[in-house]
Amino acid sequence: MPTLHWVGKDKVVNHHHEVPFRLLDKQYTFTANEGTPANSTANRIIHGDNLEALKSLLPEFEGKVNCIYIDPPYNTGNEGWVYNDAVNDPKIKKWLGQVVGKEGEDLSRHDKWLCMMYPRLKLLHRLLAHQGIIFVSLDDNECANMKLMLDEIFGQQNFFTNIIWEKNDSPKMDSTDFSIKHDYVLCYAKSKIDCKILPINSTDEDTAHYNKVDSKGRRYYLKPLRAMGGQGETREARPNLYYAIEAPDGSEIFPKRKDGTDGAWRWSREKLQSELDRIEWSNGKGGWSPNYKIFLEETSTRPPESIWYHSEVGSNRTSKAEINDILIQTNIFNTPKPSRLIERVLSISLPTDGIVLDSFAGSGTTAHAVLKLNAQDGGNRRFILCEMMEYAETITAERVRRVMNGYGEGTKAVAGTGGAFDYYTVGAALFKEDKNLNEDVGADAIRHYVAYTESIPPAQQCGTDSLVSRYALGASDTALWLFYYERDRVTTLNLDFLASLNIKALLEGGAKGGTKPKRKRPEHFIVYADKCALDKDFLTQHGITFKRIPRDITRF
Ligand SMILES: C[S@@+](CC[C@H](N)C(=O)[O-])C[C@H]1O[C@@H](n2cnc3c(N)ncnc32)[C@H](O)[C@@H]1O
Repeated sequence: MPTLHWVGKDKVVNHHHEVPFRLLDKQYTFTANEGTPANSTANRIIHGDNLEALKSLLPEFEGKVNCIYIDPPYNTGNEGWVYNDAVNDPKIKKWLGQVVGKEGEDLSRHDKWLCMMYPRLKLLHRLLAHQGIIFVSLDDNECANMKLMLDEIFGQQNFFTNIIWEKNDSPKMDSTDFSIKHDYVLCYAKSKIDCKILPINSTDEDTAHYNKVDSKGRRYYLKPLRAMGGQGETREARPNLYYAIEAPDGSEIFPKRKDGTDGAWRWSREKLQSELDRIEWSNGKGGWSPNYKIFLEETSTRPPESIWYHSEVGSNRTSKAEINDILIQTNIFNTPKPSRLIERVLSISLPTDGIVLDSFAGSGTTAHAVLKLNAQDGGNRRFILCEMMEYAETITAERVRRVMNGYGEGTKAVAGTGGAFDYYTVGAALFKEDKNLNEDVGADAIRHYVAYTESIPPAQQCGTDSLVSRYALGASDTALWLFYYERDRVTTLNLDFLASLNIKALLEGGAKGGTKPKRKRPEHFIVYADKCALDKDFLTQHGITFKRIPRDITRF
């Protein structure tokens, strides 16, 4: 498979493992005014660099995000936009300097952009559910590079298509060469064979050719039963599809190809017998020919096509008008996408109770689209947005608040969709630069992190109220995890600690602090502590693995 190389790639391919794990600090919860619909809750807006924000989301959301839509900086080279487009934002420049080092000073615009995107895509890949789908908006500046990068990270076999979005609804008269009319939306699955692109509702235009009505008032159109005569549609190739059908005048009709040679019907004899009421005959120049009816009621949806016109999903002009109406300010954000475009993305990929992640949130269009869809069908789709710039609060969150509460006046008033979201900032790192634990984050946060790194499923995790021990972290049928940690003293795995465990409670099902089915004695004990006073033979004999805090806490 062809792969893409750029200056600095070797420094970023594994960088996502080195990104410090930070906690997300909840700043406030916003809930829409009373009287608006009560669905659309448990949403998040995160203010911070998405590299850190995505890493922070892993323990809770790894493999759980059903759809990712991102609209990263297009890297057009235009400076001075409201948002950072050219990866020349001071924060990203600083990050590149730290990660890529001296070499970073010589990076071209494209190298920088690729270095910026690669580790973020690696984390997005981990967050996406097995049946999930990712969409990436771009234009000619980076689309070809992104395609190769996505082939590498998501797998060439998981590429669906590169959707063309007609972004302009009129020509750019000042263009010196082409007036570019389209953007791209690259679409990949995490695992294409296991995932499904959902059909969309047919429009009146799609169904205009259903121009006949049967006695029951059902609209339909006719398709010839004779196969159209392609290769393999011959009597020799399909002998079971070559047979006589009786026409209304009693004559026998065989399938003929255009050149007069013997052809084939589309249906077998058996299917014809069971669907006789769908057959309608026509009598033209070539004599009688059977047709079958295709009813509108059976085809109210259609697969999405790969070109999305502005008349269906909006344009750059309509999206600017949309955000201006909501925030009552012109030119407040230069590159919003139309909410109808994101609605289309979500309607073909996101279950009605699914989670969508947009880690380049901008003006919050993805949240707007989620709220509109939930308001239309009562769904419970949820969104997670990340935005790095200060306007995460003043534009991103503010737009979402207004959509939830309703906006506009008089004839332009738009009813509130209702809903709620939590607003977070990216907080303290779990490990200090000297690799020790940052104990200020609190024991609960450290326990959650360790439970995740030990891959203890949430259903098997224990709280500090566990009857086995307040240090119990998780219990499965075969293993018991203990996190023997105290901020103010050194902890030692010794016989006294083992004697303090209430294994009887575990056998009786009380590991989580409640009443659960009885268990067997675990074969394996994983014990984190500052020190261990037991010798190797004793540990092996009793199936105990000692892990030293903080040395043996996995960094991911
Ligand atoms: C093209 S805009 C997205 C527009 C958005 N789709 C909308 O409809 O409003 C890209 C956004 O990504 C943000 N961004 C760029 N780098 C980021 C990063 N590292 N972390 C979080 N946000 C970032 C920019 O600040 C900008 O708001």
